[in-house]
Amino acid sequence: MSPPPVWLMRQAGRYLPEYRETREKAGGFLDLCFDPKLASEVTLQPIRRYGFDASILFADILLIPQALGQKLWFETGEGPRLEPLEDGKAVAALDVDGAADALSSIYETVSILRSSLPGETDLIGFAGSPWTVATYMIAGRGTPDQAPARLFAYQQRDAFEALMDVLVESTAQYLLRQVQAGADILQLFDTWSGVLPEDEFARWSIAPTKALVERLRALGVTVPIIGFPKGAGPLLPRYVAETAVDAVGLDPSVPLSWAVAELADKTVCQGNLDPLLLVAGGDKMLKAVDTIIEAFDGKPFVFNLGHGIVPQTPPEHVGQVVERVRNR
Ligand code: CP3
Repeated sequence: MSPPPVWLMRQAGRYLPEYRETREKAGGFLDLCFDPKLASEVTLQPIRRYGFDASILFADILLIPQALGQKLWFETGEGPRLEPLEDGKAVAALDVDGAADALSSIYETVSILRSSLPGETDLIGFAGSPWTVATYMIAGRGTPDQAPARLFAYQQRDAFEALMDVLVESTAQYLLRQVQAGADILQLFDTWSGVLPEDEFARWSIAPTKALVERLRALGVTVPIIGFPKGAGPLLPRYVAETAVDAVGLDPSVPLSWAVAELADKTVCQGNLDPLLLVAGGDKMLKAVDTIIEAFDGKPFVFNLGHGIVPQTPPEHVGQVVERVRNR
């Protein structure tokens, strides 16, 4: 059987010494995101090393809140910080119409990439799904369970609904511009969909993602769209059917036999090696690669991790995984 295509979430990042060096040169993480020359350089670094089948634009899902007018900064070693959104008034003050224009340096990165990448290497553009982006906008930081956004959605439902509308429209415009600049595929990261009970999942993960996909199609975007609703579990088939994404990312907790039975005939599956096995390495890692590929034998499938590469990953393990995927 021919090997599936392979790329890895967070394939550009701190586990690579050349990334750390370029980030140093840029000054900070956000400076790196907004410098088209350096951002395209770090996007290309893992392609040069490993020859992945796809490249993912180097940027962040939190650039949209910043472009909407919310203050964003990164505390070294701690992660993102935003000035928390507190109510409907703060939502109404967001600059929906100006957001996509504020991100013009990102489209410049995309266009540099499309002309530097080998023709056979697909370029993936991305954004966060409205729910996941909103969780950071409301809490002002990462939290273990996104309680602030969940509570906000229960207590101030109209304001939360308005925030979803803002995020659907600004994200659609942002992704349209990425595609116009040369992105071949789009991925929507819904990292925090798994904290939602069923009705809330339908309301805040599925419905805004569906609206975003519909809006993109209405704007003339025809490229494939990958949805990644992390932690969605048994709600994955419903997510796929209702959002109309073309492919779905599976996190490491999704059982392979279940995914093959419930999803593989309906969509393209992508995943789902545990990022910590990529840290551990050895036979366990290589066997897990085999098990995943064998499970999806004969089905449309893209090999990936179940979440992003972590900083302590030895770079040589990444090379061993790519080699194993291609030469089994
Ligand atoms: O995958 C790639 O190579 C493309 C680039 C990319 C980054 N972030 C770069 C990044 C992508 C696709 C993202 C998505 C993203 N950003 C998500 C969704 C996916 C996921 O990982 O769950 C989320 C939730 C964010 C928000 C964010 N950005 C957090 C919570 C953090 C801090 C955590 C961490 O890993 O430090 C970031 C920072 C970030 N984004 C880094 C990178 C390479 C590390 C920054 C650094 O260099 O110090």
